[in-house]
Amino acid sequence: IGSSILCLKETDSTNSVAFKMAEEGAPEGTVVIADTQSAGKGRLGRVWLSPPGVNLYCSVVLRPAIAPVAACQLTFLSVVAVARAVERCTRLKPQIKWPNDILINGKKVAGLLNEMNAETEKVNFVVLGIGVNLNLRMSTLSQGLLRHPATSLLEEGGEEVDRIRFTRVLLEELDQLYGDFLVEGDGPVRAEWLARSAIKGRSVKVSQQNREFRGVVQGVDSFGALLVLLSDGTLETVLSGDVALL
Ligand code: BTN
Repeated sequence: IGSSILCLKETDSTNSVAFKMAEEGAPEGTVVIADTQSAGKGRLGRVWLSPPGVNLYCSVVLRPAIAPVAACQLTFLSVVAVARAVERCTRLKPQIKWPNDILINGKKVAGLLNEMNAETEKVNFVVLGIGVNLNLRMSTLSQGLLRHPATSLLEEGGEEVDRIRFTRVLLEELDQLYGDFLVEGDGPVRAEWLARSAIKGRSVKVSQQNREFRGVVQGVDSFGALLVLLSDGTLETVLSGDVALL
């Protein structure tokens, strides 16, 4: 990963650029980085604010030989890579919130957006999109723009983070994790995800579109679903929703 890196001053979205390049045959491991994005994409069609000079916006093309239903396993991979990079580059302790948020002191510091091109049986390619707030001063943003409390490594750690070093460390961790994933499958990375997310055995409240329930987290399955045991003994497989610790 990172044997070919395209660095752009400005683009609409590094995910869109990487997706287009992958469609045109860009090899696995191709990375696209931009200093700023004019239309950074968040999950659920939201906008990812992407001011210049302070953060990391990057996208990585992967071509794993897996089925589309297994692609969420790559989300575990990027979450764990970001958590490791934060630990190597700062003294901060990142927390993981299912399914793929990375928080520090309860505030969001990074976001992940994977986009995939697949047929029924097999994945052609996946673009891992990773945005990390490194040296953003939150006071420069109007909080009204933010849906959830957000922060940056600088705000939480009090120290500037070297953007190039952070990027290098992140790509190194991704490369390592992806190599292990190809050999050993998703077991080890899922175990690390679970250990870091600190929700196993905890009571949670799950809020879905038209339903809310409480239960105890048993783990995650290999499709990325959260397994929650209800008080009546049924095991719920949660594929989407908002999960709050009780
Ligand atoms: C989220 O909603 O939490 C996901 C945010 C993902 C943002 C990153 S920044 C780099 C890449 N390019 C994009 O347009 N989005 C992702």
